Amino acid sequence: MKGIILAGGNGSRLYPLTKVTNKHLLPVYDKPMIYYPLQTLIDGGITEIMIVSGKGHAGDFLELLGSGSEFGIRITYEIQDEAGGIAQALGLAERWTRKEDVAVILGDNIFQDNIRKNVEAFDGGAKIFLKEVTDPHRFGVAEIDGNQVINIEEKPKDPKSNNAVTGLYIYDGRVFDSIKTLAPSGRGELEITDVNNSYIRRGSMEYAILEGFWSDAGTFDSLLRASLMVQETRDI
Ligand code: G1P
Repeated sequence: MKGIILAGGNGSRLYPLTKVTNKHLLPVYDKPMIYYPLQTLIDGGITEIMIVSGKGHAGDFLELLGSGSEFGIRITYEIQDEAGGIAQALGLAERWTRKEDVAVILGDNIFQDNIRKNVEAFDGGAKIFLKEVTDPHRFGVAEIDGNQVINIEEKPKDPKSNNAVTGLYIYDGRVFDSIKTLAPSGRGELEITDVNNSYIRRGSMEYAILEGFWSDAGTFDSLLRASLMVQETRDI
């Protein structure tokens, strides 16, 4: 399985921290933010990883991570010219993946769980990872019926559950066909939630509940929380 870290976007919710640098290079406790999703993929047994970033600071990612040899992996870089959403950024990786299975992780998501078992057991379709939160309206929210996810709503005003869809997804090669059918959402982006709903409609979506700590780090409060959690747990 290949891995993709999506590190685009303008980081507007963290302005002015992001005025002269990229969100994913900001510190989360004692490391640059992108080290955490990178480590999650590496701990999952993934050694071929693509980083998709915007134009502005692409050279800084290269400077920071190089070929990946320091981590025992191979890193490839791709540029998203304009911030057109997570699904658009993922679409840029199509040729590189050669339609193999991919683990996709958002560059501002910090996970404590080890995903190796999920990577090894993946058998086509798609898989999402859920975490119960107190502020579901900030995320994609999954509606569950028994052992099935029946729908995901992106940042609902009136969430149907507390199960946030975290920024970690496993897809088979059909994900790129799904991306090609998408239209921009209200915020003018191709939404990963629409990709996930297309798998749900086809009956090929599975989910897992995360056991450990999870946070995004794209707002002042979540960035602080992520740093404090890393400091407290220290094993991630
Ligand atoms: C994105 C996704 C959302 C997901 C979240 C996780 O939101 O659209 O479904 O729950 O990441 O961090 P964004 O932070 O890009 O607004």
